[in-house]
Parts: sequence; C-alpha cells; structure tokens
Amino acid sequence: MEFEETISSEDQTFCSPTKPTGLLEGTFPKPLSSPGKRIKVLIRDATSEDLPALVDIFNEEIATSTCTFRMRPVDIEDRRAWLSELTKDGYPCLVAIHADDTGKETTIGWCNLSRYRYQEAYNACDFILSRLESSNSERRTVEISMYTHRDFRGRNIGSKLLKAILLEAQKRNYRTILAMVAADPASSDRERFWVQRGFELRGTLRELGFKFDRWVDVGVYQLMLEGLVHRTKDN
Ligand SMILES: CC(C)(COP(=O)(O)OP(=O)(O)OC[C@H]1O[C@@H](n2cnc3c(N)ncnc32)[C@H](O)[C@@H]1OP(=O)(O)O)[C@@H](O)C(=O)NCCC(=O)NCCS
Repeated sequence: MEFEETISSEDQTFCSPTKPTGLLEGTFPKPLSSPGKRIKVLIRDATSEDLPALVDIFNEEIATSTCTFRMRPVDIEDRRAWLSELTKDGYPCLVAIHADDTGKETTIGWCNLSRYRYQEAYNACDFILSRLESSNSERRTVEISMYTHRDFRGRNIGSKLLKAILLEAQKRNYRTILAMVAADPASSDRERFWVQRGFELRGTLRELGFKFDRWVDVGVYQLMLEGLVHRTKDN
C-alpha cells in the first residue's frame, strides 16, 4: 500500500447501499483546524508497533468523552491483548499512518470490527461453520469502532478508514455492521458521520451508561453489507 494525500471537503470518500438514500450525495464542508492542508495517509493492518499511539488516542477519549463507556485508562498490555484477540478471531483492525514532511510516520487513528455478541446465531462461528454450508458464513453481525487523533479530525481519515474496513468486511462475507454511538449533546458530529456514510439509526437505547455524572443514551446505527458499493467523489 502507498501513502495517499487526503483533505477534507475535496477528497470525501463515501460508501452507500446500492440504493442511495440521498443523504450521501455531495460534500459536507466543515470548519477545519488547518483548512486546505493536505496530509499523506496510509491505511494498513494494525501491528504491535501501533499500540503506544492507540493507547494515547484511546486514553484521551476515555478521559474526556462519552464516545467510549470505559472510565479507566488502558495500557499497552491491555491493547496488546485486545489486538491479539481480534486477530485470532479473524476480525480486521486497520490503522491510519501519517507521514510528515520529513517522512516521520505517526499512527493517527484506527478502525476495527469485532464480535457483537457471543451467541452462535449472531456469528455463525467457526464451530458452526464447520458443520454448515459455506454460504452460512454470510450470517455474521459485527460491531465497528473507530477513533482518530483529535488533531487530525475532519481530514477524511475516518472516511478512509471506514472505506477500507468495509472492504475487509465484504471479503469476510459479514452481513451487517452495527455502530453503537453515545447520543450525547456534544456528539452530533459523530452521529452524523455514520448517517452520511450509509448507516441508519435503528433506535436509541435510553440511559445505557453513566459517565461524567450524567446518564448517556446510545444510538444503534446499522449498515447492511449486501449490495454495498463504495463511492468516491470521482465515481
Ligand atoms: C468519528 C470520528 C472517527 C471521525 O473521524 P474523522 O477523521 O474526523 O473523519 P472524517 O474527517 O472523515 O469526517 C469527519 C466529519 O466531521 C467534519 N469535521 C470537520 N472538521 C472537523 C474537526 N475539526 N473535527 C471533527 N470533525 C470535523 C468532517 O468534515 C466530516 O463531516 P461529514 O461527516 O459531514 O462529512 C472521530 O470524530 C472520532 O474519533 N471521534 C471519537 C470517537 C468516536 O466517536 N468514534 C465513533 C464511535 S466508535
């Protein structure tokens, strides 16, 4: 894989079901911290070398945001176990790497899919698959997580990660992806992110978590993978 230049409103990458909802057309310019600045980004599989950066990105959100319901910081060993479990189960975990003008590379975000629940009907797990026709591998339901470094938000990194993880999901014949998004007054940007990229809000679960001295609702966003096509501004 090679580094690609990316910029917010000029390089939007979308994915959508084959029947576009209309919400997916066009570009969505927003204020940028450094408007117009192009950056080089590479998307690749996560490795143990990325873990320190992932810890930093995650801990910043744990300490300051309801986007994760974790309340205690994670460390490298925690993330090593998490990545190893994902990899063992065959779930994809991708990272975004930024190269600065000197060529120095920094991990600035990640996106992974993971098991939604353990019961077999959600997963068509390997145990079941070994006894069923291969077509049953299309039954899988997975959950998505994605975090980008705050200094790099609004530069299409999240969109690139999403596009790449959807290709991985399709390769694995997953059927549907759920994004569980805390519905916080401060979270309208992150909710819109999913809707504008083809996820549909199926419902909001009330007061599922309690963080920063308040109850937090969770929106359940769903993307069906069957018939999904990927679109960029160019096509
Ligand atoms: C959700 C998230 C991954 C998006 O990442 P990103 O790299 O900013 O993604 P993009 O740049 O592709 O798109 C971000 C959207 O915010 C807009 N935006 C512009 N400037 C922005 C800024 N300074 N900060 C955040 N978003 C900005 C972008 O234009 C884009 O708008 P659109 O949805 O209307 O197209 C990121 O905000 C994040 O890590 N949030 C915290 C974790 C989280 O909530 N994860 C989701 C649940 S697991």
